[in-house]
Amino acid sequence: MATATTTTATTASALSPVLGRYFERTWVRGEGHHLWDDQGTRYLDFACGIATTGLGHGHPAVNAVIHAQVDRLVHVSSGLGYVESVNRLAEQLAATCPAPLDTVFLANSGAEAIEAAMKLSRRVTGRPGYVAFRNAFHGRTYGAASLTSSNLNYRAGYEPLLPGVVLAPFPDVHRDEAEATAAALAGLDSLLDDVIPASEIAAIFVEPIQGEGGINPAPAAFLHGLRERCDRHGILLVIDEIQTGLARTGRMWAFEAADIVPDVVCFGKAIANGLPLAGIVSSRELQERWGVGAHGTTFGGNPVACAAAVAVLETIQGEGLVANAATQGATLMRGLGDLAARDRRLIQVRGRGLMVGVEAGADLAPRLMDGCADAGLLVLLAGGSHDVVRWLPPLDVTAAEIGEALAIFEGVLAAA
Ligand SMILES: Cc1ncc(COP(=O)(O)O)c(C=O)c1O
Repeated sequence: MATATTTTATTASALSPVLGRYFERTWVRGEGHHLWDDQGTRYLDFACGIATTGLGHGHPAVNAVIHAQVDRLVHVSSGLGYVESVNRLAEQLAATCPAPLDTVFLANSGAEAIEAAMKLSRRVTGRPGYVAFRNAFHGRTYGAASLTSSNLNYRAGYEPLLPGVVLAPFPDVHRDEAEATAAALAGLDSLLDDVIPASEIAAIFVEPIQGEGGINPAPAAFLHGLRERCDRHGILLVIDEIQTGLARTGRMWAFEAADIVPDVVCFGKAIANGLPLAGIVSSRELQERWGVGAHGTTFGGNPVACAAAVAVLETIQGEGLVANAATQGATLMRGLGDLAARDRRLIQVRGRGLMVGVEAGADLAPRLMDGCADAGLLVLLAGGSHDVVRWLPPLDVTAAEIGEALAIFEGVLAAA
């Protein structure tokens, strides 16, 4: 994937090769919407640490509260009592969710949030099974990997994964939305008719837009269909908003666009603008039934990360960044759509808000990503065969920056 050379190879010799890297560059500084490598080259960062630094680098409001919290109190485990920044975050985060979602469990990473939702749903329903969707990505731990099928490499050699997981079809993004929805729901129904009874399913896990799987939006009617089946069969609906959440799709939560209320929302990535923090939100009743001591964590809900997260939420709300993501995302999609209309190598432009994918094939997409990096623009890849160029600009991106990025992409495309 990566082509550029820097000093990385000589300084990273003790790091495990198991972790795939998009770029063989060494990053030394971030400020606002830009990153600098150790060669002094500046990049417009439309990768945002894979949707983590949603407010860009060194955001003044976020950094100020991080510094203040570090000086006051870096850490006490949640199991020892309460810390003000942690309580505040839980309250403010719950306030972004519809009733009855009012109670937050905090963890460190997206995969841990998924594990928490998996354990909660089994404990509360007394059922063993899970439904997840083909092409989904929910994380790398054993439970989360059992729900993941966006790339064989995430599963191969790890079997047996968690038993009781069935993988149902996700709506095909290349088909008419209504037809794709009907086909995917029929596929799910036939699994529940023939493979595992609905009465044995604890939860259905779904990304409202599959991120790693290729920026594949779930039609609203599909999410409705899942909600309806969950209600009918006493199954919990778990929405994985780890990549889509917190204004990314032009809504605070992507599920809002489908006008449904999930039972559990998993969040992570952008919540603390780069500090490790994640978790789940559900009704208090569900987490009371989960039971005291049924789950726990040493570092989850760290006070510094929570202080940063409060500032992130206040910035998103105070600066109208949900609306900005919708507006700038529409401009980006329009610009990319115009390019696709002129260049048939671009197969499809899809996404919502500032979560956009350009399907370009497994040969062209990596060359476009590398070419953009060489031209000073960071975008990523998605899709099982890395066939989609993935755009995750900062939530406070400006129209000028969208224009600059589109111009770079157009030039790279023309030369590719
Ligand atoms: C939708 C989704 N769920 C879960 C995860 C796992 O998060 P983490 O890497 O923080 O464990 C990711 C990470 O990319 C994700 O995109």
